[in-house]
Amino acid sequence: EKGGYDTFMEKEINEQPQAVGDTLLGRTDESGALSLDELRIPEEKLRQVDRITIVACGTAAYAGMVAKYAIEHWTRIPVEVALAHEFRYCDPIVDERTLVVSISQSGETMDTLMAVKHARDLGALTISICNTHGSTIPRESDAVLYTHAGPEIAVASTKAFLAQITACYVLGLYLAQLRGGVHADNAGQVMSELHEVPGKIDQLLHTMGRVREIARFMADTRSVLFLGRQVGFPVAMEGALKLKELAYIHAEGFAAGELKHGPIALIEPGQPVFIVVPGPDTPHGLHGKVVSNIQEIRARGARTLVIAEEGDEAVVPFADEVIRVPHTSPLLQPLLTVVPLQVFALELSTAKGLDVDQPRNLAKSVTVE
Ligand code: BG6
Repeated sequence: EKGGYDTFMEKEINEQPQAVGDTLLGRTDESGALSLDELRIPEEKLRQVDRITIVACGTAAYAGMVAKYAIEHWTRIPVEVALAHEFRYCDPIVDERTLVVSISQSGETMDTLMAVKHARDLGALTISICNTHGSTIPRESDAVLYTHAGPEIAVASTKAFLAQITACYVLGLYLAQLRGGVHADNAGQVMSELHEVPGKIDQLLHTMGRVREIARFMADTRSVLFLGRQVGFPVAMEGALKLKELAYIHAEGFAAGELKHGPIALIEPGQPVFIVVPGPDTPHGLHGKVVSNIQEIRARGARTLVIAEEGDEAVVPFADEVIRVPHTSPLLQPLLTVVPLQVFALELSTAKGLDVDQPRNLAKSVTVE
């Protein structure tokens, strides 16, 4: 049942090309335009949406954070990401023109379910992004956009995360197309770039030998920091979450720009820091800014583990290790950059002799509030 792999998590990491590919399948028509008939929400209602709130927990919430950057850019609709368990208690601003998008692998997370019910009571339009057919959250929502990652058994989410991000991109591009925003014309081009991602993940998965080696050397590490910027920020937090969940190591993800406002005080000689570097073609010179951050922490003795695109030579002088990912357009990068962080956490957990698929104290789906 583990398909020749030692753990479900390893199997599921390796199924990620297919999870992304299958989630894209059937979501465009012959002309290449997005068509989401499955939503069964009148287009008119979707055109009226003037605010989007994403509700989710854990890894699914990080998928939501990635989605915020992409959906806002493509649609110019303001997107807020709320942890589902906070949403109901913050007197949320929601009305009939609000689209509440829930993200849940299991479709059974009680916190997320209660957030969806609350949103519906307030009159919002609700769409569930979910991996489990017939589960509760899709049934309680106006519409569902299924991720097609296949069953995810390991408690720590991997392929569902990539499928959730993919589904969010599809939804964002569909809304952009529907509303004819500035980026509507680009939707087809982004879709064709997305179709290239599964092959790139596959390629990446074949180059994880060094990441595994680094993880094994770090079995005694007590703390690891993760930095990222823009869409790399939720990736940094997801990398930290994987390490907490699987290897019980203190880990924190920061926005790289926040470094000088506090976290840099944590840097002492030998402190390992992963840095998720935006591609050199990321707007607003973000690549150079993150390279400066690497330089700053390296000067203070950090051990810099840099995740950067192939061909990005600017990082080399400041990196103790460079982990290469294939090129893709900036907003799509999380589908690639998170993969080495998943493999790192898996391998470190294994090196410590821990139960990778069922980490202590955690449940695959939390059905109590
Ligand atoms: C946690 C799981 O309890 O719930 C995480 O351990 C998951 O892996 C989170 O991200 C949310 O679960 P779901 O099923 O709503 O996506």
